[in-house]
Amino acid sequence: MQPQSPVLWPLTASINAHDQLSIGGCDVVTLSREFGTPLYVFDEHTCHRTAAQFSSALQHSYPGASAVHYAGKALLNTALAQLVTRWGLGLDCVSLGELAIARQAGVPLEHVHLHGNAKPRRELEQALDWGVGRIMVDSLDELRLLAELTRDRATPQSILLRVNPGVDVHTHAHIQTGQLDSKFGLPIATGMALEAVKIALDSPGLELVGLHAHLGSQIMELEPLALGVERLLAFAAELRERFGWQLRELSPGGGLGVPYRAGDPEPEIATYAQTLASAVVAGCERRQMPLPKLVIEPGRSLIARSIVALYEVLSIKQIPDVRTFVAVDGGMGDNIRPALYEARYTVARADQMTAAPTERVTVVGRYCESGDVLLRDVDLPPLSPGALLAIPMAGAYTLSMASTYNLVPRPPLVLVRDGEAHVLQRRETFTDLTLRDLPAPPPAPDNQR
Ligand SMILES: Cc1ncc(COP(=O)(O)O)c(C=O)c1O
Repeated sequence: MQPQSPVLWPLTASINAHDQLSIGGCDVVTLSREFGTPLYVFDEHTCHRTAAQFSSALQHSYPGASAVHYAGKALLNTALAQLVTRWGLGLDCVSLGELAIARQAGVPLEHVHLHGNAKPRRELEQALDWGVGRIMVDSLDELRLLAELTRDRATPQSILLRVNPGVDVHTHAHIQTGQLDSKFGLPIATGMALEAVKIALDSPGLELVGLHAHLGSQIMELEPLALGVERLLAFAAELRERFGWQLRELSPGGGLGVPYRAGDPEPEIATYAQTLASAVVAGCERRQMPLPKLVIEPGRSLIARSIVALYEVLSIKQIPDVRTFVAVDGGMGDNIRPALYEARYTVARADQMTAAPTERVTVVGRYCESGDVLLRDVDLPPLSPGALLAIPMAGAYTLSMASTYNLVPRPPLVLVRDGEAHVLQRRETFTDLTLRDLPAPPPAPDNQR
């Protein structure tokens, strides 16, 4: 039997004979006993299937060359970098830390793109030394610095300019990036993108191979993505006119949304790929431009559904006629999205999956912040301390944004497959938490006080 709203759960999720949630052939109650809670359970099959869907949808709908790059900011660790590479995907990194993990995981760095609106000099130098495939340049200052750093290199560094096409998408303000008033990208409208192209074409150490734009995250309506592509192509045509420059690579970024609750829209990967491909093909045909390589960068939509977060209920506080607070052993330290941008999730009682909901409650975390609310006003069956709660669609921007606030160790990530569990990232220990600490210096002599 499947859980309610199956689209919110991993493909292998089912309810077993004990009325417990099972993922990848493992029942989560046993997993929670073995690994403790909070626990993040990763269903490899769901992620693999989704990656394959992205690749085949793009290949099927786009006649030119194409590539799918996983946006590692959604969640990255050694195993995940290895898995997406094994599945034929490229990788997008936004920091030297992410690049270092990719490198250590054995990912060929020529398949890695480096993003970021403010890349420190040290990180650019290292990325160049490591031979990163593409650098997505986000500002004039970065471009000038890169030009300086690459001046004497034997082979030019391939770059794409991240431009800002001035397209609004309807998503939370914190995750919109394509509108003019944004810290990301070189605006086309103000002439800054054009200035960047001139600098890039004048820099012997740089090879401008393409244009990139990312409009935002959790995008449910696809038309703005097509409009973004159209603006990039119009700009490319202008560049061909002025400089004889050819667009070889085009990336409309990532951003495809996912449902988090029953009734949320469920954008389809095939429709998304078709929308982008049609926009590129039509725009190129109209301008008689050769088809560029089309690179998409899904993050959330690739990983969100593969992971379920498990929490143990620690206490319940009923305030008659006001609210019932259910406190669990995790919260904003492992998933800050509800506190950061009012993200809403679904929850189930994982140890009694078919029990009928009886009460409306608010599930709060253990962190010392009133804003540490994981789920507001959700309906759950009767609960008592020790009950196990499961939050699906917990893969994206949760563990990657995790903190050690209150010095609570970060939870483990466990891969499940065919009834077996493999730890991909162990739980942080108290030793980990003090690894960077040094003792206080000896007291200052009295006469210096
Ligand atoms: C440049 C770029 N590409 C891809 C992504 C991934 O977006 P999403 O996780 O919404 O697919 C982001 C996210 O912020 C981004 O900034």
